[in-house]
Amino acid sequence: MEKTFHITTFGCQMNEHDSEILAGLLDEMGYRAVPDREEAQVVILNTCSVRENADKRFFGTLGQLKRRKTADPDFVVCVCGCMMQQQHIIDTLKTKYPWVDLVFGTHNIHRFPALLENVIRQKDREIEIWQDGGEIVEGMPARRLHRCKALVNIMYGCNNFCTYCIVPYTRGRERSRRPEDIVKEIRELTADGVREVMLLGQNVNSYRGEPEDGGVCSFADLILRIAEIDGLERIRFMTSHPKDLSDELIRVFADCDKLCKNIHLPVQSGSSEIMKRMNRHYDREQYLEIIRKLREAVPEITISTDIIVGFPGETEEQFEETLSLVEEVRYDSAFTFLYSPRVGTPAAELPEQIPEEVKHRRFNRLVELVDSISAEKNSAYKGRVERVLAEGTSKRNPGALSGRTDGFKLVNFKGENDLIGQFVDVEITEGKTFSLEGRIVQ
Ligand code: SAH
Ligand code: SF4
Ligand code: F3S
Repeated sequence: MEKTFHITTFGCQMNEHDSEILAGLLDEMGYRAVPDREEAQVVILNTCSVRENADKRFFGTLGQLKRRKTADPDFVVCVCGCMMQQQHIIDTLKTKYPWVDLVFGTHNIHRFPALLENVIRQKDREIEIWQDGGEIVEGMPARRLHRCKALVNIMYGCNNFCTYCIVPYTRGRERSRRPEDIVKEIRELTADGVREVMLLGQNVNSYRGEPEDGGVCSFADLILRIAEIDGLERIRFMTSHPKDLSDELIRVFADCDKLCKNIHLPVQSGSSEIMKRMNRHYDREQYLEIIRKLREAVPEITISTDIIVGFPGETEEQFEETLSLVEEVRYDSAFTFLYSPRVGTPAAELPEQIPEEVKHRRFNRLVELVDSISAEKNSAYKGRVERVLAEGTSKRNPGALSGRTDGFKLVNFKGENDLIGQFVDVEITEGKTFSLEGRIVQ
């Protein structure tokens, strides 16, 4: 029987990168990726628990696999990722989905090949969840989604315990990789054709590497070390917590050409009182001051954010403060979320939960404002020539290529497939709400 697999990823870039590692491990085991879940012998669902709809999508997809599992004993169903770090999910899987073959968590991905072999050999199910991260495992393979750009973890976990957020419980405490290990990985990636890296961490600003020769390597130091790698042209990172954004990093934005002039700086709310109740450790004025400093140092910087509406107790006035902050900052784009209570987080226990219809009404007002600003900002790009890394064929527009500008704007343009992986100069012909249209200039 041919060994084939299919992975579905429900979560963030970190989750996506875990899927790339799982795919790399399966490659090494002689498995072949297939585009259609129906055709795969091994199916992996890599879950996210950040909001309720991610949970729901997972159980919906899992339910669809039952019939095939019953009919085909060689079919292997694996589930992993953040949801598996929550005991109530494991309990549900055990009682309602006993036919799932393999369950593992976020801390033991490297154990996957051994666990899968056990499942296949013993025809019995395996559940292995580690409560903590332990030592960082280096040297894992990865099968990248893109040839020319790569996701690179610089740290794992989160210590911030924002009161709404499940991530510290599913990813454990902060652990930073050694700078030498990160540089080595990126050198190997560039030798394999990578031009752009996205450095990943829940809060990259609190990266604290311990170099071999002693001392401490800050996040800003790490960027400078990475920038020395020949062949690497662009460095990005995600995500940056405002409370730890240093002046040193702002200087690196201004001085380091390879660091893309774009930052994702989640604000979550425009109200200092709500920020406090979210345990964010900054207030509205401090946040706006950071934005001012960033723009002073790098006038062309593009800025995006995450915003939650309907945090418990949020009043109409406090929501209005979010709208006014968005108008003041004028984000290039913003991810907006309805507050979703997560089991085990302090905010889920708060008495004043906001009714769904109020959340939705606020959400719609916010999205309208955010989108109108994005559209205005993007339309101002018309006529500009932008350097774009052609990443692949456009999803929306068959026959076209797509790629990102230095400022992380998505651009669609006509071009031959052999340009994929290369930088091209593109003149912007139209700015839409979520993307730009352009044509290659010679
Ligand atoms: N570490 C990143 C965010 C990771 S989660 C950071 O601190 O910026 C991505 C986003 O999901 C968060 O920024 C937040 O806006 C949103 N989010 C997290 N928990 C949520 C919840 N319970 N309900 C709604 N949105 C949530
Ligand atoms: Fe969640 Fe806050 Fe950590 Fe981000 S910083 S992962 S929002 S607890
Ligand atoms: Fe990412 Fe979702 Fe986990 S956002 S860290 S996959 S809870």
